[in-house]
Amino acid sequence: MSKINNGVNPTREGYRVGSVPAPEASEQTRGGASSVSFQGATKRYGNATAPAVDHLDLEVEAGEICVLVGPSGCGKTTSMRMVNRMIDLTEGDIQIGGESVMRKDGAKLRREIGYVIQQVGLFPHRTIAQNIATVPQLLGWDKARIRERTTELLDLVGLEPELAGRYPVQLSGGQQQRVGVARALAVDPPVMLMDEPFGAIDPIARERLQNEFLRLQANIRKTVIFVTHDIDEAIKMGDRIAIMKQHGRVEQYATPAEILMAPANEFVEDFVGADRALKRLSLLRVGDINLWRAPNARPGQSSAEVRAELAHPDVEVPYALLVDERERPLGWLTPRDLAGDTVPATADSPLGPVLETGDVMRDALADLLQGESMYAPVVDHDGGITGILSIEIISEFLASPEAKTDEHSAVERPLGTDRETEIRADE
Ligand SMILES: Nc1ncnc2c1ncn2[C@@H]1O[C@H](COP(=O)(O)OP(=O)(O)OP(=O)(O)O)[C@@H](O)[C@H]1O
Ligand SMILES: [Mg+2]
Repeated sequence: MSKINNGVNPTREGYRVGSVPAPEASEQTRGGASSVSFQGATKRYGNATAPAVDHLDLEVEAGEICVLVGPSGCGKTTSMRMVNRMIDLTEGDIQIGGESVMRKDGAKLRREIGYVIQQVGLFPHRTIAQNIATVPQLLGWDKARIRERTTELLDLVGLEPELAGRYPVQLSGGQQQRVGVARALAVDPPVMLMDEPFGAIDPIARERLQNEFLRLQANIRKTVIFVTHDIDEAIKMGDRIAIMKQHGRVEQYATPAEILMAPANEFVEDFVGADRALKRLSLLRVGDINLWRAPNARPGQSSAEVRAELAHPDVEVPYALLVDERERPLGWLTPRDLAGDTVPATADSPLGPVLETGDVMRDALADLLQGESMYAPVVDHDGGITGILSIEIISEFLASPEAKTDEHSAVERPLGTDRETEIRADE
């Protein structure tokens, strides 16, 4: 039985894999986002013989996440820092919204562009609210406006308002990163630069922060230049990925799906790695495929009824799921649970991982494996059950010809945020 529904998410015109819809017109600036255009951008450090970045040409559309990925020392950070002139171009140009960065005052440019880095860049002796308000303060906003914006930003990145008066050291690493993102967003920048923003966190917190950032991005639609070493992160986060090698040479600039389906050359193929089918799971969301169904049972219901349902030949999951009156999963029922007359109020077997329809399939697989579960209930936004994901569904997908040939579009992304921001407030 094929459980893969390939019709669910055909790639739509103007729709990028793993992304929000593209702008209707390719305006240079739309909403609060600007395009970024690298035009022969070159950086030669001191008297180095070879340039760190050699004539880089790259067009980043307004509202997209462009990921720069490549081996250490290939010029990712240099390329990114030329955008806000933390590093000045030796040759060539970079235009933001059609305007050359060279025609702008460097310090002003850095205040206008959000900047998030891996190391915690928060000021330790300033409260969270003061950290977030760094640039608004420099710009001389009045107190009421700053307070209002700070409250709004805390909410946007999912932090409790009570945290406003705390100091960075009193927050977890993940919370600090959210503050970093809030600070970078303070003046509603047209462009965000993020240099390995999730690089230093453990894999589970990292996944959550990535998801939060994607969810946030679906609303704010900033132009984001995102640097990472990690191809999996690039595939998950990028609307478009630039795979770079030494001297900032772009070997392929394409959507994640294009890079997985049709690597431009051997360098890209090596960089993407051998497990491309597995990586393709990053392009799918749990809600993109046909899920299985398990019989639902409610506390107090007749056990015989549930046993009869389980005996039905069409049943795909050999266990019944205990759900509450709003269809929210409570646990898995074992035969022992169903031995009495009525379904008990609690289940013998714990629920294990619970997935959401918007979860990226690759993360869902990791959750199943980590939870040592064959099956996981999938819920919608209200927590109500929509189906069951199993390891078998995923392995069928990986074995299917579609996994090898088809382009599966992931949907609007959900998710995430994160990491430290450093705004060059000084100067
Ligand atoms: N301030 C500097 N002075 C001289 N050379 C530099 C300087 N900064 C970077 N470089 C050199 O420029 C090249 C590109 O460095 P860059 O930091 O942009 O690479 P990267 O791709 O960000 O690397 P990583 O993945 O390790 O962060 C490297 O060869 C590096 O040694
Ligand atoms: Mg770097």
